[in-house]
Amino acid sequence: SPSPAGIHDLSFATTEFVLPHTALAAYNGTEIGKYHVGIGQQAMSVPAADEDIVTMGAAAAAPIVSRHGTDRIRTVVFATESSIDQAKSAGVYVHSLLGMPSATRVVELKQACYGATAALQFALGLVRRDPAQQVLVIASDVSKYDLDSPGEATQGAAAVAMLVGAEPALVRIEEPSGLFTADVMDFWRPNYRETALVDGQESITAYLQAVQGAWKDYQEQGGRGLESFDAFCYHQPFTKMAYKAHRHLLNCCGHVIDEAQIARAIGQTTAYNRVVGNSYTASLYLALAALLDDAGDLSGRSVGFLSYGSGSVAEFFAGTVVPGYQAHLRTAAHRQAISRRQPVDYARYRELHGLSFPPDGADHPTPPQTTGPFRLSGLRDHKRVYERR
Ligand code: CAA
Repeated sequence: SPSPAGIHDLSFATTEFVLPHTALAAYNGTEIGKYHVGIGQQAMSVPAADEDIVTMGAAAAAPIVSRHGTDRIRTVVFATESSIDQAKSAGVYVHSLLGMPSATRVVELKQACYGATAALQFALGLVRRDPAQQVLVIASDVSKYDLDSPGEATQGAAAVAMLVGAEPALVRIEEPSGLFTADVMDFWRPNYRETALVDGQESITAYLQAVQGAWKDYQEQGGRGLESFDAFCYHQPFTKMAYKAHRHLLNCCGHVIDEAQIARAIGQTTAYNRVVGNSYTASLYLALAALLDDAGDLSGRSVGFLSYGSGSVAEFFAGTVVPGYQAHLRTAAHRQAISRRQPVDYARYRELHGLSFPPDGADHPTPPQTTGPFRLSGLRDHKRVYERR
């Protein structure tokens, strides 16, 4: 069997601002129970004018680079579906902002919300090839739907950075994986649009089919049985989706549906996504962060991961929590990333939602709004300019 490899460190960052769902509900007249209970969301992270996937990605990765140095990191993989450039990887900006060595390969990956899991699996392959190397995986996204659309309540933004290496301190990732791909148009964003298009109900159906397909392949590849998992981390476009997905999985496996059992398997994975909103590629790994930070001692326990990316690609895989992992967590920093956000009212959020750079090549400085460690200072000559504060 391959040498143990997995997630050695994990850190996340989110935005300067936050919109509580009570403000959205007061604006559009929705009964708040639909948001708090129906989709399981309390609040959404809202980027400041001078924040984007690069500033969030750098903020998530900076503590990892400062704890471990860059000597062993030969590769940076940046996963996103809210890319800021069609050619240049957002990872190259992060590499520069963090002062990483030039002897590094940097690349951006895309397949909707699944991209970070592709990045993780590619990273594991590199580490298994040369266990002396580490890979920095960054998943960073801003989820943006049209104002006044059903998707609006499921927006959010965050970045997760993971250091992938041999003999990991947090979670060993196992083989096999269960895989599933189907050509469906449930959610997509053509290059000319800033907001995603989605067929809401179709996207839920496509997600559930992908869960079933990935699990079936996982079993055929010789994966573990359902009962051997202590918790399940699902991609959480809204936290209620994880419950729907797990119920579907139990159903497919012929299990009697026991809501208390579903709550035990999922409940401790939702705390961050519930108040951050959909962070697309980062969402599954925010679920893992919540589980590790909040669930008591999980040493030696098995976690099932289900990654879904619309379009669609899904993967099911297993991880084992490494004894002693609690000494390596960043729980206080994660809680601070959530609590430091400044609430905005609905009018301010709407204004921020409408911001975009005109494609005229002129100077477009951004107002200083973020108090985070990195900011996008503007667009000059069609080039995004970043600074470390
Ligand atoms: N109290 C409690 N619950 C209530 C309620 C109330 N007052 N009012 C409504 N609800 C419940 C409904 O019964 C429903 O629950 P169930 O799904 O369990 O039946 C839930 O609230 C949502 O209600 P609707 O289905 O009527 O809501 P909607 O039509 O506004 O759409 C949505 C919901 C489809 C998720 C929409 O927000 C959307 O399109 N979101 C974006 C797409 C998305 O997130 N899809 C998820 C799968 S795709 C994916 O995972 C990739 C990705 O990241 C995008």
